[in-house]
Amino acid sequence: MAIQNIFVVGAGLMGSGIAQTAAVNGYNVVINDQSKAALDRAVAGIEKALAREVEKERMTQQAKEEALARLSTDDTMEGARNADLVIEAIYENLEAKQAVFTKLEEICPPETIFASNTSSISLTALAAATKRPSRVVGMHFFSPVPKMRLCEVIFGLLTAQDVLYAIKEVGQKMGKTMILADDKPGFIVNRALLPMLNEACVIVGSFIGTVEDVDNGMKLGCNHPMGPLELADMIGLDILLNVMTVLSKEYGEKYHPSLLLRKMVTAGFLGRKSGAGFYIYQNGKKMGVNPALTQGHKL
Ligand SMILES: NC(=O)c1ccc[n+]([C@@H]2O[C@H](COP(=O)([O-])OP(=O)(O)OC[C@H]3O[C@@H](n4cnc5c(N)ncnc54)[C@H](O)[C@@H]3O)[C@@H](O)[C@H]2O)c1
Repeated sequence: MAIQNIFVVGAGLMGSGIAQTAAVNGYNVVINDQSKAALDRAVAGIEKALAREVEKERMTQQAKEEALARLSTDDTMEGARNADLVIEAIYENLEAKQAVFTKLEEICPPETIFASNTSSISLTALAAATKRPSRVVGMHFFSPVPKMRLCEVIFGLLTAQDVLYAIKEVGQKMGKTMILADDKPGFIVNRALLPMLNEACVIVGSFIGTVEDVDNGMKLGCNHPMGPLELADMIGLDILLNVMTVLSKEYGEKYHPSLLLRKMVTAGFLGRKSGAGFYIYQNGKKMGVNPALTQGHKL
């Protein structure tokens, strides 16, 4: 099945990155969001990102204009009528994602593939909400999508082989290396990565090492490009907590979210997006370790 028309649902961080990457690589893309403001933000962000590519001479002005001409917006779902592939990237909630697929079921042709960018929800559970479970698949991109080279493909219990081949072709055309994972919470990358980030929180919470020493330890000792706590701040501590909660429900104690992580989220320290996590951020720039973690209370 040759895919030409892609319908992206959700114009947030991931959806706009997926739409940009697909349009740049030759696909006709309709990007949908229930919020008109989110759509405007996404298009403005994509235009700005492509203008930067032209400025840095990584893309021609003509290629930029052609990519933008392949991109259109929709806030009704009607734009999915000609979709060969839907990529859903709304917020991480099973019922909301199932509702999107149920709605699209009425609009899309029966052969349209329904992919989800979910980080933690079962593809088999999403497929169960549709009349086409064999055409439901996971396409787990990483942020920022235009830069990160991986796409994790997840097969549910009923996903058909031809769907995996079709998705592989799309991902490769989008410049991604595809890896294949079974539908088990965490898939491959988060199952390995998130416990490490959680353990970094345990180390700080148990006063074994400071925030900066933990990050320097992993950067300089293990050649990681970012420290685990910087990365946790970038992902969002609330997202990390949600996924750890899902993993611990499935796999038990080993994945239990750390007490410090839970306290940080309760206190509203969500990472970069809230201006404070393990570090403090001003205008997106890291300013230093969050003073709440270094107070040294006395009585
Ligand atoms: N942020 C990451 O680093 C990351 C990485 C990999 C996967 N994911 C997954 O990608 C998905 C999206 O994450 P995000 O960070 O882009 O979220 P986000 O909050 O930036 O964007 C979500 C968008 O979906 C829209 N939306 C919500 N319900 C909708 C609906 N019913 N119909 C249409 N639009 C709707 C919202 O208005 C919002 O613009 C989640 O499933 C998340 O787990 C996120």
